[in-house]
Amino acid sequence: EKGLRVQDKGFLNTAVIRSAITYIDGEAGVLRYRGYPIEQLALHSSHLETAYLLIYGSLPTTEQFKFFENEILRHSVVHSDAEGFFRSFRYDAHPMSMLTSAFAMLGSYYSDANPSLQGQRLFTEGDKASLAIMDRQIYRLIGKATTLAAMAYRVRQGRDFVTPPTGLSYTGSFLYQMDHIGEENYVPNPVLEKALDVLFLLHADHELNASCTTVLQTGSSLVDPYSAIAAGCASLYGPLHGGANEAVIRMLISIGRPENVPAFIEAVKRREKTLSGFGHRVYKTSDPRSFIVRKTADEVFKVTGKDELLETAMALHDAAMKDEYFIKRKLAPNVDFCGLIYRAMGFPLDFFPVLFAVPRVVGWLAHWRQMMLQEGGVKIWRPRQIYVGPGKRDYVPAEQRA
Ligand code: SDX
Repeated sequence: EKGLRVQDKGFLNTAVIRSAITYIDGEAGVLRYRGYPIEQLALHSSHLETAYLLIYGSLPTTEQFKFFENEILRHSVVHSDAEGFFRSFRYDAHPMSMLTSAFAMLGSYYSDANPSLQGQRLFTEGDKASLAIMDRQIYRLIGKATTLAAMAYRVRQGRDFVTPPTGLSYTGSFLYQMDHIGEENYVPNPVLEKALDVLFLLHADHELNASCTTVLQTGSSLVDPYSAIAAGCASLYGPLHGGANEAVIRMLISIGRPENVPAFIEAVKRREKTLSGFGHRVYKTSDPRSFIVRKTADEVFKVTGKDELLETAMALHDAAMKDEYFIKRKLAPNVDFCGLIYRAMGFPLDFFPVLFAVPRVVGWLAHWRQMMLQEGGVKIWRPRQIYVGPGKRDYVPAEQRA
């Protein structure tokens, strides 16, 4: 135990890597991707352009972006075997379970998923063959994330799978596959497509959150990235993390009318209820994404009409922000009130964490690639513990046990 520093409260204030990807200042409420403020990227960039920035470290030239976008759209098609895989789920299986399994399934398809192959190749910036393998794995995972998500959705709807026509954007082709009415009647809605693309961009990365740490912990054994992403997807599913956007809506539905908010707040203070959508390990003043979510919601509601839960959400926000209990604990709204937008856009409630996972594949891969190329090669992540169990004792045969 010599020299070990215990942080047995979920890695509180523990840095495990040096990273050049995302910068967060939790006190000032600042979020930057590769130095660019999230507010500027949300205003001027797109999810896919920001994906390039996060993964490769600079904004792409026009040609670089065209190639990147084309590779991702080209790799968005999945093997027809995947249809049988998805059909094996019950119609009411949670889409995050389907998506998590589907990422692991991808690993069974590709020869580059062979861990020993990874083991043989020490990825270095100069090794062109390894970089090409990693790029292809990145294109496949980002491209197929939307297709696998849409396939999970159509299993739930009991409908055939569709392949989007060429010429649509990344987010546009996802919405086409998600179309609720029927492909022949599909009418793209630029306002909703833009709104979803902004939300994808906001969710693209967030430093060493629980799911990203899971991807790196898993990837550090040199397993293939498809399996590492499946592990990250499983971590994101939890209601303390990416599952919170679904939990927020279930919470608002359980509260019902705004006049029920004070009683709910008291129940939270008695620790009988959780206030989903509030609090954050790093942000202690405000989550900068929540302001952009608010603005995006106003745009969407102009098209879809206001959600009847909005009033309750506002009443909850105002009550919590004024209450000493939450102020003392520095609890502010986080990104997960975006569920009100997904609801207004007609996505089913348990699909909301999938709308978090799809864009977060970008951040997971950016950190995975950074780890695979780190100076001196990958070190397996193997933390220690402080042992607090019983001292040495001898075996007792069953008949002598009390
Ligand atoms: C995301 O890490 C990331 O970056 C995540 C994320 C990303 O982009 O990847 O930003 C996305 O996951 C956002 C968070 C979504 N989760 C929720 O909205 C669920 C509700 N929030 C809480 O479960 C909680 O705030 C966490 C999990 C987000 C953070 O937990 P921490 O940092 O471990 O904080 P804590 O539990 O130690 O809280 C400190 C105090 C405690 O009170 P005391 O025991 O000291 O008296 O604040 C209380 C907590 O009980 N508290 C809450 C609360 N969150 C914290 N009390 C009521 N309601 C809450 N939501």
